[in-house]
Amino acid sequence: MKHLTYKEIRDKYIQFFKDNNHKEIPSSPLVPEDDPSVLFVNAGMLPLVPFLTGTTHPKGPRLVNSQRCLRTGDIDEVGDNFHCTTFEMLGNWSLNDYFKKEAITLTVKFFVEELGLDINKIYATVFEGEKGIPQDNESIGAWEEIFKSYDIDAKVGKGERIEPLNREENWWGLPTGGPCGPDSEIFYKLDNGELVEIGNNVFMEYLLEDGKYKPLGIHNVDFGGGLDRLTTVIQEVDSIFQTDIYKPILEKVKEISNNDILESQRIIVDHIKAATWIVMDGVIPSKSQQGYILRRLIRRAVRHGKKLNIGDIFTREIATIAIDQFKVIYPQLEDQKEYILNIIEKEEKAFNNTIKKGLKILEKMLKKKSQLTGEDAFTLYETYGFPIELTKEILKERKLKLTSPEDFDKAEVRHQEKSRTSSSGMFKGGLADSSEMSTHYHTATHLLLAALRQVLGEQVYQKGSNITPERLRLDYPNDNKLTPEQITKVENIVNEVIEKGLEISFEEVSKEKALELVPFAAFSEKYGDTVKLYYIGPKENPFSLEICNGPHVSNTNELGKFKISKQENVGAGTKRIKAILQ
Ligand code: ALA
Repeated sequence: MKHLTYKEIRDKYIQFFKDNNHKEIPSSPLVPEDDPSVLFVNAGMLPLVPFLTGTTHPKGPRLVNSQRCLRTGDIDEVGDNFHCTTFEMLGNWSLNDYFKKEAITLTVKFFVEELGLDINKIYATVFEGEKGIPQDNESIGAWEEIFKSYDIDAKVGKGERIEPLNREENWWGLPTGGPCGPDSEIFYKLDNGELVEIGNNVFMEYLLEDGKYKPLGIHNVDFGGGLDRLTTVIQEVDSIFQTDIYKPILEKVKEISNNDILESQRIIVDHIKAATWIVMDGVIPSKSQQGYILRRLIRRAVRHGKKLNIGDIFTREIATIAIDQFKVIYPQLEDQKEYILNIIEKEEKAFNNTIKKGLKILEKMLKKKSQLTGEDAFTLYETYGFPIELTKEILKERKLKLTSPEDFDKAEVRHQEKSRTSSSGMFKGGLADSSEMSTHYHTATHLLLAALRQVLGEQVYQKGSNITPERLRLDYPNDNKLTPEQITKVENIVNEVIEKGLEISFEEVSKEKALELVPFAAFSEKYGDTVKLYYIGPKENPFSLEICNGPHVSNTNELGKFKISKQENVGAGTKRIKAILQ
């Protein structure tokens, strides 16, 4: 076998297919550009769906690339030898050009002649057929022929070199439908006897639409091979984490670990590396969609950092190495380095606060009842921002299980209904719910109010406010809704303050003193004799000063990106703004 770095394997692959008349296309970003059906690109073919259904590709019918991918379904599997969240998929495509025989031949030639894999250790699977769809005899024939050209008499059957299998194993398409068909996987036998999949040729002749298979009308080939796995085989190591893709990152994690739980170390390596790629592609941690996956990855890595007794803030150090590892392939990682590191570290710090509070409560709950229900998990989530995955993981570590997990969803629905029907006055005596996001929105409301004052004038004050973990809502006096220019101005002011990272502090003063300082104080009549004054920014010259009971975040940089999502009229002279943090 040749000794090759992962970069050399990648380059050789692209060069080989270029030499065979394929045109190279760039990797698309991880977030699909116009396909809202999946959160992340999960296979090299995803950005090519329009061309796999008949649109002519400007670069012609033969394409090749190495596409960055993310598989959310694998997050919980990370820790063994081969699973990872983000990886590069080597891909070559024939758009109604060559088909099974040439595809299989090209794949084998690349593996054997370019990479030096031993043909004797190569095994294949094909589709065995089912009612209405025949066994893939064309692929079987192609495999027999290619093996024969290397003097191997390949047998077909169960446990043989060419093995027909059912749809579970040998049919491929996106879960959401579209082009699909039988596939033929290629395996390599390791010295320990294990078979590792190193590539897959999908023969797209069908279209899945409205739950039915129809002929696609054209024949495509979609080859995909995980660069990480292939590198493991070529470098003759036992796991992807020992390849030159991950090794330097793992070494750093080992260096700062205070014990040797390999699974946790691998999880940190994988998740932090994934986080650098996701942030590079424009996502920031948030409550939903891609932002939520990013948050989950960072938080899970931090959690495993605790299992390894890594005392301090550590994600920056690991992410720095991950960036160094991949900047040859993605120079934008280096260009955005500081930004990426800051986003990840900020999330780590926010989570450390959440964990501290949540763990205490969880322990208390467990002490009391020695088990947790879905309802308890919801309380932890809603009140302390403690993610359900984390609750489940902690229980699993203690060989416990969440009882009646379905109660989590029920409690969530109940809670949503309650916050829809509950009336105003959410601020009195603190928040109606004080989850982490609500705390964020509470602080964001102060920023919005101060920004409105700057743009519209000092007459603006808070007539009413309502906060849920999903958004803030502020009512204020004004005759007109904000113009598009004013919206941009207000958003920019708030986002600048968020970026600046202003500290938030408070002092307790008499009501009289407070009202002197904040004449338009919101709900001032509802407070007692002493009130809290909340400063955002330096006390001598705060950006915002409000009478309020809190709680607030401790620094504006915890907030994420602020965006006005909606404006409404509520009665004469009162306008309502809804805003979100992304
Ligand atoms: N799209 C195919 C896969 O992901 C190649 O296996």
